[in-house]
Amino acid sequence: MTGSSLQLGPDGQLRHLLTIEGLPRSVLRTLLDKAEGYADMRRGDDKKNLALHGRTVVNLFFEASTRTRTTFELAAKRLSADVLNLQVSASSTSKGETLLDTLKTLEAMQVDLFVVRHEASGAAQFFAEHAAPDVAILNAGDGRHAHPTQALLDMFTIRRRHPSFSKLKVAIVGDILHSRVARSDIHALRILGAAEIRVVAPRPLIPAGIETLGVKVFNELDAGIAGVDVVILLRLQKERMVGAFLPSTGEFHRDFGLTRARLAKLSKDVMIMHPGPINRGVEIEGDIAYGDTRSVILEQVEHGIAVRMAVMETILANRP
Ligand code: CP
Repeated sequence: MTGSSLQLGPDGQLRHLLTIEGLPRSVLRTLLDKAEGYADMRRGDDKKNLALHGRTVVNLFFEASTRTRTTFELAAKRLSADVLNLQVSASSTSKGETLLDTLKTLEAMQVDLFVVRHEASGAAQFFAEHAAPDVAILNAGDGRHAHPTQALLDMFTIRRRHPSFSKLKVAIVGDILHSRVARSDIHALRILGAAEIRVVAPRPLIPAGIETLGVKVFNELDAGIAGVDVVILLRLQKERMVGAFLPSTGEFHRDFGLTRARLAKLSKDVMIMHPGPINRGVEIEGDIAYGDTRSVILEQVEHGIAVRMAVMETILANRP
C-alpha cells in the first residue's frame, strides 16, 4: 500500500497524514478552512478548546526541529490533549526493530496520535502500516520525502493573500534535490490548481525527472523569479548531501541568494516565504527575513499552529 492510499479510509476520510500527494482538493480545502477558525489568536486570548480533551498525543522526533515540534505541541495543548514529547536520537540499532519496538511500547500507553519526524524517507508510512487500527500517524517530515503540514501551512499563508490559486505563479528556489518541503509544496500547489510552479536551482540540486510533477525548471535565478507572485526559498540541506554538490555557499549566494538588489526587481506585492531554519547570507540576504514587509516567514510560523490544530482535530474526529 502507498502512503497516499493508506492515509484515506474507504469513506474518503483522513485517517493518517503521511503525504500531500494524492489527497483530493476537497480534503486540502477543508483542512485550510478549518484552520481559519484557529488563526489570528492574540497573546491575551483564551486559546483553549476542548476538541481533544482526554486524547493523548506523542511527539516522536528522531531528528532536530524547532518550528514543527513546538507548534505541534502548542497545537495539541490548545486542543486540550495530553502531550508527551520524545526527542529520540537515531541509534545504530536495526532501524525497523527500533521503530517497531518504540511504536508498540508507546501504543501500550493508549496513545491516540503519534507525530513522527525521522531522517528516513518512509518512516511515517512504516508507523502507519504497523500502528493499531485506532492509532493515527501524522508525518512531521521524513527524509527528503514529505512534510505535509509544512505544505498546508504554506498554502494557508498563500491563500490568505491569494484566495484563488488559478492565476498564481510560484517559484521554489534552492536545494530542491534534498527538500521534502519542495515536494510537498509542489503537490499541494498542483492540487489547488496553481497556474505555474517553477523550481529554481543550480543543475546539481534539481532532481532528475522533476518535470513530471508539472513544474518548469530554471537554472538561473533572475529568470526563475521574474513575474512570480510567491518565492519560496529553501536552505542548502548539508546534512542530506553526500559529496560536493556546489563549489561553495558563497557562490550559491552570489548566484541564487535573494539579495536586496534582486528583491527590488520583484513586484511590491510578492510574497517571500521560507520554511526555516534560515541561513542568512546564503539563500537570503541579511535582514530581509524579518525586515521587509514582503517577507511572510513569521506568518508561516504562526499559521503552523492553526493548521496543525485543524489536522489533529480532523484526524482524531475520524477515529472511534
Ligand atoms: N520548517 C521546519 O520543518 O522547521 P523545523 O525543522 O525547525 O521543524
